[in-house]
Amino acid sequence: MVSQSLENVRRGYRPAIASLLEQIEELQTKESQDGGAHSELSTIFPKTYQQKTGFFKAGANVVKRSRAKVGVIFSGGQAPGGHNVIAGLFDACAQIYSEFELLGFLEGPRGLIEDQWIALDAEVVDAYRNLGGFDMIGSGRTKIESSAQFEAVRKTVTAHGLDGLVVIGGDDSNTNAALLAEDFVQHGVGTQVIGVPKTIDGDLKNRFVELSFGFDTATRVYSEMIGNIATDARSAKKYTHFIKLMGRSASHVTLECALKVQPNFAIIAEEVQAKEQSLGQIVEELTDLVMARSKVGKEYGVILIPEGLLEFIPEVKRLIDQLNAKLEVSALEESERAIFESLPRLIQDQLLSDRDPHGNVQLSHIDTEKLLVQMVELELKRRNFSGAFHPLTHFFGYEGRSGFPSNFDATYCYNLGFVAAALIKEGKTGYLCALKNLMQEVRDWQPVGVALVDLIEMQERKGKLKPVIAKALVELDGGPFLSFSEKREGWKLGDDYVQSGPIQFGDSADLCNAPPLTLALESSVVS
Ligand code: FBP
Repeated sequence: MVSQSLENVRRGYRPAIASLLEQIEELQTKESQDGGAHSELSTIFPKTYQQKTGFFKAGANVVKRSRAKVGVIFSGGQAPGGHNVIAGLFDACAQIYSEFELLGFLEGPRGLIEDQWIALDAEVVDAYRNLGGFDMIGSGRTKIESSAQFEAVRKTVTAHGLDGLVVIGGDDSNTNAALLAEDFVQHGVGTQVIGVPKTIDGDLKNRFVELSFGFDTATRVYSEMIGNIATDARSAKKYTHFIKLMGRSASHVTLECALKVQPNFAIIAEEVQAKEQSLGQIVEELTDLVMARSKVGKEYGVILIPEGLLEFIPEVKRLIDQLNAKLEVSALEESERAIFESLPRLIQDQLLSDRDPHGNVQLSHIDTEKLLVQMVELELKRRNFSGAFHPLTHFFGYEGRSGFPSNFDATYCYNLGFVAAALIKEGKTGYLCALKNLMQEVRDWQPVGVALVDLIEMQERKGKLKPVIAKALVELDGGPFLSFSEKREGWKLGDDYVQSGPIQFGDSADLCNAPPLTLALESSVVS
């Protein structure tokens, strides 16, 4: 018997499609009444600031051209489902145009600047259908910022005669897409720029975008691993696991995994900030937990920590700001210097040496989980704790970013690729693809073209006002956090761990297709 690889089986998966997108040739956008008057943006986006968000509806055949040439890039960190955006775009173009070419620019925006690309034909696209990663064309974090870079991109898209350019990225990349769209219009370049909301962090969402793609798969992968660890902890009764989870600033990933697995404790950074908790207070809370569990004979446990925690602790944030302002330790203000000196040596070294290209502390590289373990150990000692405390630390991040996309992400992304093609067909530029009603059956998903200017606001960055798409943080009055805060007290001593197991691709719709709990709980509060 020849064994089938799961890769091959997944390549054959055919995602369902929203009814409106089935007749993509006959789709039209209907502009929404609100938005479209962002006068504060008129100096930066003089040509596009009045654009309006539009919901697609069935209409007459409005295909404006018979052939098209479209470019696509991935931008930023990997998120499961990206390949399906390209597959959807490819299939939709095949449906709309009698002839089309799809160009994949390599390694993110750098490929556009340096004109590095490959042709994406059926053979290439088919090889990556429903598979994780961004390895079809690679990704990168280059930002198109300088006028020379904008000029280079204009040159590339003009030389290829691109009708459309699809940017698959997060908040920063889509802000860049909006700037690129404006720049092209200003310079009479006809290439339309369309964004697609990607990030496992779940922080690119707003009234039109219910969720970024990749979040569902990444949190399912992490939850599987956390659930396994929790079951191991309950079996061996030996270790207390401190697990840091990726997600950048926002704690959406940690919250979703906590709701799925029900660990003994999960820190939500936005709550820490709201309560103005100090590092010492967090350590006290964790120490209380360890001691309380020990008292009932449970000298093990599972604690979840969001990647962005440190920047939400006001005193640590001040310390980081001062270090980012290039201050030496000797020049720190007295209180920040005291905090710095109270930190374990490992963390002091990471704060001083691990900097990004702009000289800023790389928060995602700081071993917050090890910091908390060391501080809890000290606190237990100070309290003369006589029980057993055997901590183990973990960081789950990259493990989840390129997993096989769940059915939800595979389907969502495939449909997003269709929305991108529909927006190009409609002649739109400076738009972000969205699908509303994600909690409903796929056939009822509502395609939307969101005017990027509708999402942009001016925020201070290093003393200067810059256009940004604000990151959506966990809302403390939102359904997901409220549900978590109702249940968490019981999780401390009761070991209510739920083992979610691996992502399922079988026939049970409940097990295989359900969207993330975050989305379900947000919808239940909204409706
Ligand atoms: P994006 O914001 O580009 O989607 O990336 C998400 C992320 O995975 C974060 O969760 C994490 O902090 C960061 O990327 C890690 O970046 P890198 O891949 O450069 O190590």
